[in-house]
Amino acid sequence: MAAPVKIEFSRFSAPKEGVLVVLCGEGLEFGSFTRKALGDTRNYVLRAAKLERFTGKSGAALSLILPEGRGPSRLIVLGTGKPDKFSQKDALKTGGLALGKVPAAAGELTVIAELPNGALKPEQAADLALGAVLRGYEFDRYKTKRKDGEDKPAAKTVTVAVADPSAATAAYKSRAAIAQGVITARDLVNEPANVLYPLEFARRARELKKHGVEVEVLDVKAMRKLGMNALLGVGQGSAHDSAMVIMRWQGGKKGDEPVAFVGKGVCFDTGGISIKPAAGMEDMKGDMAGAACVVGLMQALAGRKARVNAVGVIALVENMPSGTAQRPGDIVTSMSGQTIEIINTDAEGRLILADALWYTAKKFKPKFMVDLATLTGAIIIALGHEHAGLFANDDKLASRLTEAGLATGELVWRMPLAPEYDKLIDSKFADVKNTGGSRWAGAITAAQFLGRFIADKTPWAHLDIAGAGFDSRQTDINKSWGSGWGVRLLDRLVADYYER
Ligand code: BES
Ligand code: MN
Ligand code: ZN
Repeated sequence: MAAPVKIEFSRFSAPKEGVLVVLCGEGLEFGSFTRKALGDTRNYVLRAAKLERFTGKSGAALSLILPEGRGPSRLIVLGTGKPDKFSQKDALKTGGLALGKVPAAAGELTVIAELPNGALKPEQAADLALGAVLRGYEFDRYKTKRKDGEDKPAAKTVTVAVADPSAATAAYKSRAAIAQGVITARDLVNEPANVLYPLEFARRARELKKHGVEVEVLDVKAMRKLGMNALLGVGQGSAHDSAMVIMRWQGGKKGDEPVAFVGKGVCFDTGGISIKPAAGMEDMKGDMAGAACVVGLMQALAGRKARVNAVGVIALVENMPSGTAQRPGDIVTSMSGQTIEIINTDAEGRLILADALWYTAKKFKPKFMVDLATLTGAIIIALGHEHAGLFANDDKLASRLTEAGLATGELVWRMPLAPEYDKLIDSKFADVKNTGGSRWAGAITAAQFLGRFIADKTPWAHLDIAGAGFDSRQTDINKSWGSGWGVRLLDRLVADYYER
């Protein structure tokens, strides 16, 4: 795997070599230390800026080769817009751009973390560093050779020059944990399904034990005993056993009810007997992005010792067609006791979540639960790759998720749940059927189905991340196919509202 970007914080200083990154406000304004570090080179920058029409707008960049004798061989000037509008998202983006603008094989990177109106605050400098680490991620485990000139993360170490290095280092500690969580989630999503089948996924989740997370794995026998026939029906056509993993982080008060996260972990979704078309089916190795996010989130929470009790539950199956596979028309009895008629074996995510959600509410009586699932193509039709679909039975939880989304840039958009949709999933033979039978409101009928498996009126939100979990919007802090979407969002939700 590509070596992760290493972060160091130093006092304000100008590097003697390598790549220097400086920040520039709208109107070509520099901070006072930056001006000092640039010296005469500033005239060169102003000349280039004029020619390139660079004015310091947020997200713009100017990349210069410096002549011999000027210290660093490259200078990258990043626009940061109006200094008083510089948000947390801007700090992340700036870090991402700093790394992204450096070509392969350039030297080490030093970023002078200063805006025209003064040094970045320790938290801002730490966010900038997080942005660089996330941008530097690359999944190259299966690349045995590299094409010449292909972009490689250029710098191994990014030095962020700040006013107070020890304060920035302290602020970075929690970001480093979040970065690790996002990277874990991305790795899991990118991994192919021949390698990452349910029990291998469970083995990797077990590695969270070294971060202080308690991990329990339910095998097929244990799930059969619990009556999880909706989940087991999906996995019964596969040569690989299904599994459920329960992760617990106890950073809160003893006995405090936990927050809970539930993930769809379909390690590969062929559609089953209702088989999918061949084109693009390879993407269905990412149908476990919800589960990957839950693992990454638990790692992040444990890594930064979040003061909260949290439970993560992931349902792991492979949806295959075979002689033992579930058929359309089959009727299964879920753990809740409700019977489900299978209309389409490709609507499998809701089946495994039905049991996982019921189990989680009954077993842990959480404050709330949030599930994440690459559940429907319909949500991509509705929202594209810009927002994940949010469905909730609780307005407070929904608005908190929306706020956390705006803060982190992992955006969610609320969609309706309503009894009017129920008739679409009422079954002729069983209590409920697993598809609406038409293409209308496909993401909503899926969510409405899940709503029937929420025990005891537990506050619950469902995030349909089919458009966000993989092959999503490329951003300045993500160039990876598996995006790790949701780790930062849910970490933020916990940090802002649920830590003691
Ligand atoms: N995993 C898919 C949804 C999906 C599609 C995720 C594209 C990411 C990208 C899910 O299991 C599925 O197959 N859903 C069906 C439901 C239908 C059969 C009611 C769909 O969306 O077509
Ligand atoms: Mn499917
Ligand atoms: Zn699926």
